Amino acid sequence: MVGKVYIVGAGPGDPELLTIKALKAIEEADVILYDRLVGDEIVEMLKRLGKELVYVGKNCGERGEYRQKEINELLKKLAEEGKVVVRLKGGDPFVFGRGGVEAEFLASHGIPFEVIPGVSSVNSVPASAGIPLTHPKLSSSILIVTGKDGVENWCESILNGTLVILMGRNNIKEICNNLIKAGRGPDTPIAVIENGTLKNQRVFFGTLKNIADIIEGENLNGPALIVVGEVVKVAKKINATNPKIFSSL
Ligand SMILES: C[S@@+](CC[C@H](N)C(=O)[O-])C[C@H]1O[C@@H](n2cnc3c(N)ncnc32)[C@H](O)[C@@H]1O
Repeated sequence: MVGKVYIVGAGPGDPELLTIKALKAIEEADVILYDRLVGDEIVEMLKRLGKELVYVGKNCGERGEYRQKEINELLKKLAEEGKVVVRLKGGDPFVFGRGGVEAEFLASHGIPFEVIPGVSSVNSVPASAGIPLTHPKLSSSILIVTGKDGVENWCESILNGTLVILMGRNNIKEICNNLIKAGRGPDTPIAVIENGTLKNQRVFFGTLKNIADIIEGENLNGPALIVVGEVVKVAKKINATNPKIFSSL
C-alpha cells in the first residue's frame, strides 16, 4: 500500500508559528525530511518526538537540481514503502521553496500528497520587526522577488512574474483589461480562489480574456484572491489527486 506525503511549511523558525495542521501531520509521520531553514528549536522538538529525521538541506556549493532529483526519488521510495512522510520546509512550501516542483513530481507518479501551507517569512519577518508591508497612506502593493535575479528583472515583474491580487474580485474585468493593455498576453493563466483553505474553498481557472465571464453568475460572496501568471498552470497538473481543487481549465 502506498503511503502519503505531506508537503509542510514550518514557518519562519519560531516553533509557536508552526500551524496546528503541521503539528498533526508531524505526529502522524513515520519519517520527516527537513531543510536547512527549519528552525533549530523545531528540529529539537522533532527529535524529542522520536521521529525518524532525514536532513535534505542543500549544502554550500551543492547543485540544486541534482539535489532536488535525489529528494524527489527519496519521497517516492518512502511513500512506496507505505510510509507517511512529512517534507518539512522553512516558511511556506510554495514560496521560493520548490514545493510546487515536488508536488508536480508526486502527482506525475500517482503518489498521494497534501500541501500544508506555512507562515511565510514574506509576511512574518517584517511583522516581527514592526514593518507593515501595506499601509493605507504609504503603500498599496508588495513586490516579492528573489535576490538571485537582477534588478532589471524586478521591473518586468508585472509583465512576466506572478501577480497576487487581493480585494480585486469586483474589479476583475477592469484589472484583466488593463493588464492586457500593459502588455500581458490575453491568454495568461489566472485563478480566482474564494474562501481559500476553508471547507467551502472554490477555485476558478481561466485566462485574462475569459475569467470575468467564467466567474459571472457563480455568486462569489466569500473573500477572494486572484493569482495571475504561468504558475497557475501547475495547479492543473497537480489537481488530479486533490479533490479540494475545482478546475474550470
Ligand atoms: C529559499 S527562501 C525560502 C522562503 C520560505 N519558503 C518562506 O516562505 O519563507 C529562503 C529565504 O527566505 C528568507 N527567510 C526565511 N526565513 C527567514 C527568517 N526567519 N528571517 C529572515 N529571513 C528569512 C531569507 O531571505 C532566506 O534566504
